[in-house]
Amino acid sequence: MKISVHGLGHVGLVAAAALAAQGHQVLGLDIDRAVVGTLNKGHVVYFEPGLKEMVVEGLASGRLRFAHLDDVKESPSEMAMVCVGTPSLNNGGANLSYVRSAIRWIIAHEPRVDTVVMKSTVPPGTGRSLATTMLQGTDIDYVSNSEFLREGHAVQDWFHPDRIVAGATSPEALKRIKKLYQGIEAPYVETDVTSAEMIKYASNAFLATKIAFVNEIANLCERMGATIDDVSLGIGMDPRIGPAMLRAGLGYGGSCFPKDVRALDFQSTANGHSFELLRSVITVNNRQRLLPLLSLKETFGSLQGVPVAVLGLSFKPDTDDTRDAPALDLIPLLVEEGAEVRAYDPAAKAQGILPPETKVCHDAYEALKGSRALVLCTEWDEFVRLDWAEIAKAMEPPRLVFDGRNALDPGLLTSLGFDYRGVGRSPKAVRSPLRSA
Ligand SMILES: NC(=O)c1ccc[n+]([C@@H]2O[C@H](COP(=O)([O-])OP(=O)(O)OC[C@H]3O[C@@H](n4cnc5c(N)ncnc54)[C@H](O)[C@@H]3O)[C@@H](O)[C@H]2O)c1
Repeated sequence: MKISVHGLGHVGLVAAAALAAQGHQVLGLDIDRAVVGTLNKGHVVYFEPGLKEMVVEGLASGRLRFAHLDDVKESPSEMAMVCVGTPSLNNGGANLSYVRSAIRWIIAHEPRVDTVVMKSTVPPGTGRSLATTMLQGTDIDYVSNSEFLREGHAVQDWFHPDRIVAGATSPEALKRIKKLYQGIEAPYVETDVTSAEMIKYASNAFLATKIAFVNEIANLCERMGATIDDVSLGIGMDPRIGPAMLRAGLGYGGSCFPKDVRALDFQSTANGHSFELLRSVITVNNRQRLLPLLSLKETFGSLQGVPVAVLGLSFKPDTDDTRDAPALDLIPLLVEEGAEVRAYDPAAKAQGILPPETKVCHDAYEALKGSRALVLCTEWDEFVRLDWAEIAKAMEPPRLVFDGRNALDPGLLTSLGFDYRGVGRSPKAVRSPLRSA
């Protein structure tokens, strides 16, 4: 099939390269000249395992091409996939201006397109509205086909998805979607457009709720002398609950969960429903990010002049994506309190996203040398595997370690003289009279 992919970001580039690898003829389009220029040289700016190789192969095969929108007068594509951003508006709703602008371009420049495939995450009701307004009077079908890939595993997730969800305005469009994914084994959920959109939002909101829930249990564990690791292990063994997303910590971040949860809350209100549970999830998640700051202030009193290492700027390991990452909320607060912040991340670029007072380091050891406290914000494998005996020598007392991802070994760190704090697992925070007796 001849397919155009609109938007060459984290989702669109994976989609374009993967569709070309599947044998389709793909034209990747973007409004950003720098993005298109870089891709045409075979460079990929995202840290995403396997993506660069797939892009280079696609370009060499001739099945993958990239172009700036303004340089294409008429595209030969039969299907258009929309992968543009849908960021938050100030009121929490989703900004759909990029989506609308992509559809306008498709109508004007892609005369052979019979199907618009919406990969961008758009609130329930959007597809119905686009089909009855912008696409009204055209021969173009609309399919909601949200993407569920995880950054850091995006290529793997594309070829081995846990499900393909499609909600279409016609049965023929659903058949075209099957052709699009030919060769990819996955269970299909075929439904109406609004239900398909709701599946995406409900999935993200449910996972965010699970994270917020386990964090609340962790906060309670800390007060009652229980250990969240054992609690998570125990509850995760119930197949109705499952073990995923049960690690307590600084909460969720990234380009999806925060904005999608906010957008669902907004959409609920706009439809006359007050989604109280979701509001609590947002509150819990915002509060969770502040835990390291409170812990440091409790220890040091004033943070003025205290050297603090912050490891991990991306919102999770194996990606350089820093959108809505906890470290980006935390570092400005530490700087405001007078701390001397030294930050390091193996992949994320710190330029322009941190206060100018932050010292950006080349490796973890540079950040830790002479620091009196460490806050682990992202559980990159290289942080877990650090030589903690060496770090104990390099850091200054009290060697406070706030493990914001419960990724480190509390026993090892305590034995090496660190003042270790986790989330729901710190023995120092145990206030139970039974334990302290
Ligand atoms: N990042 C993820 O892990 C992920 C996972 C599932 C779903 N999603 C959803 O997919 C969508 C895209 O997310 P992303 O992370 O790839 O965004 P992104 O910001 O990384 O990329 C968006 C790209 O679209 C381009 N663009 C904007 N308007 C355009 C237009 N009119 N025509 C062509 N290109 C245009 C931008 O220049 C940018 O390169 C969002 O709705 C997001 O919620 C993201």
